[in-house]
Amino acid sequence: MSSDRGYVMAETEAAAESQRLALLESRADAGTIGRLQRLGVAPGWRCLEVGAGRGSIARWLAEQVGPEGSVVAADIDTRFLDGMPDNVQVRIVDVREDGLETGAYDLVHCRALWMHLGDPAAVLARMAGALRPGGVLLAEEGDYGLYHYGGHPDGDELSEAAHRTFAVMRSAGIMDAYFGRRLPGTLAESGLELLGVEVETPCGGPGDPGFEFARASVLDSLPRLIEARVMGDGEVGRLEGFFGHPDSLVCGPSGVAVWGRRRQRERERQRDGV
Ligand SMILES: C[S@@+](CC[C@H](N)C(=O)[O-])C[C@H]1O[C@@H](n2cnc3c(N)ncnc32)[C@H](O)[C@@H]1O
Repeated sequence: MSSDRGYVMAETEAAAESQRLALLESRADAGTIGRLQRLGVAPGWRCLEVGAGRGSIARWLAEQVGPEGSVVAADIDTRFLDGMPDNVQVRIVDVREDGLETGAYDLVHCRALWMHLGDPAAVLARMAGALRPGGVLLAEEGDYGLYHYGGHPDGDELSEAAHRTFAVMRSAGIMDAYFGRRLPGTLAESGLELLGVEVETPCGGPGDPGFEFARASVLDSLPRLIEARVMGDGEVGRLEGFFGHPDSLVCGPSGVAVWGRRRQRERERQRDGV
């Protein structure tokens, strides 16, 4: 997939996008924080969070690394990154184009970022190059392969329409909804040492953060989808009916988490045959 298009939600009104990102944080932070704890984030670490969004993970990292450590919270859109702790530097970065320091960080993290970018392998190479030898990268991306609307008579048809929409979005270079499954292989090919992979597919009804994140993502993107003729008025009414029904359930998207370590320099040279 190639994409020079901007981030799909970049034109969403600020309050609605902030609320949508807050739902993503409620849905995903516990898993991310558990993985970061297992990776041993500790006082003094230098961390880079790319696509920091509303900043919950940058804030958590700042607490862990303390005053002797530091966190760079990088995003193409920093409007939700106000009021960060003193050891967090907020930076406007378009990771498709802008340079990152090389060999500088103990940890590089991103979540729900690469699926929105046209050339994830190139971005991964830049982010991996930002690690010091021995530093770790954690990437977490979505995969809508199991995505399904259930518990409602329109569920199956709306699910099929959703997958048709994902296919259009993918070929238009807007978002690769099926990128998660390619994440482990992309990391393995990058030259990092693959340390672990986890996949989970949550399922929940109204009030569940995953359901509410799906509701906000779908309803906020409707104007663009209608304008692009990916969706018609009939489907819009049925989607609103689905999300308004107490028995409705959303399954997915799956979260795919992958982590790897930058090899020591002599191991990198051996691997590259230099
Ligand atoms: C779905 S949000 C995820 C936010 C956060 N990582 C989280 O999981 O809570 C995607 C984020 O990536 C940022 N983003 C999109 N394209 C980007 C780019 N080319 N460079 C840097 N950040 C980008 C968006 O502005 C947004 O904050």
